[in-house]
Amino acid sequence: MNVTVIGTGFVGVVTAGVFAHFDNDVFALDVLADKINSLSKGEVPFYEPKLSELVGEGIAKGKLTFTTDYTTAIKDADVIMISVGTPSAADGTADLKYLKSAAASLAPHLKDGTIVAIKSTVPPGTNQIVREIIEKSTSKNFHLVSLPEFLKEGSAVDDTMHPDRVVIGATDKKVIDLLLALHEPISGTRIIVSPESAQMAKYASNAYLAQRITFINQVANLCEKNGANIDEVTKVMGADSRIGSHYWYPGLGYGGSCFPKDVKELAAYSLSINEGDGLFVKLDELNDTRIPKLMNKFEEKVGGFEGKTVAVLGLSFKPNTDDMREAPALKVIPILQQKGAEVRAFDPKANAIARIMFDPAVIVDSLDEAVRNSDIVMVLVEWPEFTTKQPEYFKHIMSGNYFIDARNQFNRREFENSGLTYIGIGQS
Ligand code: UGA
Repeated sequence: MNVTVIGTGFVGVVTAGVFAHFDNDVFALDVLADKINSLSKGEVPFYEPKLSELVGEGIAKGKLTFTTDYTTAIKDADVIMISVGTPSAADGTADLKYLKSAAASLAPHLKDGTIVAIKSTVPPGTNQIVREIIEKSTSKNFHLVSLPEFLKEGSAVDDTMHPDRVVIGATDKKVIDLLLALHEPISGTRIIVSPESAQMAKYASNAYLAQRITFINQVANLCEKNGANIDEVTKVMGADSRIGSHYWYPGLGYGGSCFPKDVKELAAYSLSINEGDGLFVKLDELNDTRIPKLMNKFEEKVGGFEGKTVAVLGLSFKPNTDDMREAPALKVIPILQQKGAEVRAFDPKANAIARIMFDPAVIVDSLDEAVRNSDIVMVLVEWPEFTTKQPEYFKHIMSGNYFIDARNQFNRREFENSGLTYIGIGQS
């Protein structure tokens, strides 16, 4: 099939690479010429496991072409997938300006019968807006559907090839059959729903997961006051099959490019249709204030940060990505500095980006360099490069004794036996 993906952000590049891998003829289109030049040479502008190889393979097989040219990319497309960004607008709702611009640009070049699928995260009702824009510039028949994306950064290629579900938001039988055929090599349960349900489900899924993380973080706060241990509490709760024991490890709150934005957008969307936004606003507030509150707790436990050298480990928002959007380090490092600490920070993949966001002198080249002679170690992200280290490694090269495990990834008893003072989340 001829597939065109508009927008070469995270979702766009992965989607284009995967459909090219399954032998479709894919155009990946963006208005950013520099980005398209790099991608055409197989250079992916962010770190994501397996993605460079996938893009390289698509280009080498002649199945994946990067372009800025709407005419070439649209005129023969059977399916167009729009995966441009939908950042939050000033009022908190999803800003549809890139989506509208893509719709206006593709419309004059459409062939008859093309399927235009919105992959970007957008509120229900968006299809009507996009339909009106496209109809202004074409008299051709086209089908507008929703194909929400559920991939996670760090495992995006695997998630796209083997998702839990493939959601098709469409009503026309022929369109549904064609999209089912396109997704045939991809595993996962097929769920056919209306476009509105597909779009609502995407926001609701992200907000639900964000809520789950926030919930357990709130319970962790209680554990810190009453002698309970959050890891034991989740073990008990998770044994209830209605609850399950996945996806709620406690920590510094949720970050990344999706959850914080999507919870805010859902709150604003809710208000815009005259519904209460209380739950979503509260989630956002609890998540936003979590790091400053935890930093006060840590400060008390280590007897103040003033004059101490702190090794901050992990600068991306989670492991296996160099994405620093809404990463905990963006809040943690300024707080440490403001409290008078000397920070030495390290990340296995995000150092280059971090050097743009912070004074480059703060970012060091290796784990050893960060940890050596530090008074306090703070692990913000569970990179395997950190979590596979034994307590003796830290004990031998640190000057001080405080080990803050902000993701509850290390064995408390082993760390205490080696003479370190272990500080975790949700345990006193
Ligand atoms: C998230 C969703 O998981 C995807 O399904 C969705 O497609 C994507 O957003 C999107 O809308 O594009 P992602 O942001 O890549 O994916 O990352 P997650 O692995 O879900 O983690 C989000 C945040 O929650 C991270 O800060 C992570 O550290 C935190 N988290 C996650 C926890 O604090 N505890 C957990 O148990 C899991």
